[in-house]
Amino acid sequence: MATPSWPVSGARERELLEEVLKSANWGGYHPFVAQFEQQFAAFQQCRFGLSACNGTVTLEAALEALGIGEGDEVIVPAISFISTATAVSRVRATPVFVDIEHDTFNIDADRIRQAITKKTRAIIPVHFGGPMANMDAIMAVSTANGLPVLEDAAHAHGSEWNGVRAGSIGVISSFSFQNGKVMTAGEGGILLSNDQSVIDRAHEILDQGRRKGEGWFFHYTLGTNFRITAWQSAVLIAQLERLPEQNARRARNVKLIRESLSDVPGLHFQRVPEAARVHTNYLLLGRIENGRRDAFHKALTGAGFPCTPFYPHTLYENPLYRDRTNCRVTPCPQAEARIKDAFWIPHRALLGSEDDSMHLAAAIRAAAL
Ligand SMILES: Cc1ncc(COP(=O)(O)O)c(C=O)c1O
Repeated sequence: MATPSWPVSGARERELLEEVLKSANWGGYHPFVAQFEQQFAAFQQCRFGLSACNGTVTLEAALEALGIGEGDEVIVPAISFISTATAVSRVRATPVFVDIEHDTFNIDADRIRQAITKKTRAIIPVHFGGPMANMDAIMAVSTANGLPVLEDAAHAHGSEWNGVRAGSIGVISSFSFQNGKVMTAGEGGILLSNDQSVIDRAHEILDQGRRKGEGWFFHYTLGTNFRITAWQSAVLIAQLERLPEQNARRARNVKLIRESLSDVPGLHFQRVPEAARVHTNYLLLGRIENGRRDAFHKALTGAGFPCTPFYPHTLYENPLYRDRTNCRVTPCPQAEARIKDAFWIPHRALLGSEDDSMHLAAAIRAAAL
């Protein structure tokens, strides 16, 4: 069985790209840009969308739009891709690393509460691997402490919390369309918000300090150029059309795989709370007990299936943060344990047929035993 390749494209992507090619505007002001922003915002149940060249600068712009800078602290999970933390550092604020829950892999709301100080200015939950973080608990902490929530929804295109889509619960949210994401244009990102003033501030930052409807050479704030191109937007319009079926196919396959492996001793897949039941399955995440993770990884990749032995370290053990001069670290025993026992299988391996999924399940079983 060959694992499906990624990205997936076809006639629709080509048709829309041709349209851009024939147009006089290949940049960020082509109508496809606004069209995609509106379509994706509506898909995620949000009022406003603002796209950008990737899902890292979106995080930076969102923090700036929230007025976060030097002397401020922002709470982030100890387990994520580096951008979640570096976005905080790049606006000259201090990332505060907080532990994840042992079974959902998502940030622990109680640990967030314990990490809050007078300097805390925002919370960034990541919907890790697809299932949303506990937004009831996180929003309760946010409301009690008057702290805005920036959702890092880079893994969560179409994910839901109790029927409400990712990105529409926090004050602002960020998605990535990098090559490995469940919708992609190679690179790309978008901010979503229901708050016009926050999205307007982010727009000024991403588009040279300009204000919508005002002159090209009128720059009101210190902005930069993080615009997306028409090419990316064309591809993303087509990718969004594919997403619901792909999300559904992955969900069907993951259900089969997880059910068929429920009797394997020492193998635990990511716990998905009922509220987070609808999600992308961006990563099939799990952990293997008794120090067998590396052998499991070797056996599964040896059998020809893609698998990553989790991150090599928590975010704060990256060389950038290791000496702790530019961050604050709260106790993270769960994150540190997952470094040693967790693994993930990428979403492309979950896009095959039911038979393909049973082959993958058989290989996981053999590797885990
Ligand atoms: C959780 C998370 N946040 C942010 C990013 C950054 O997105 P980009 O690669 O589009 O800059 C990624 C992945 O790439 C990610 O996984």
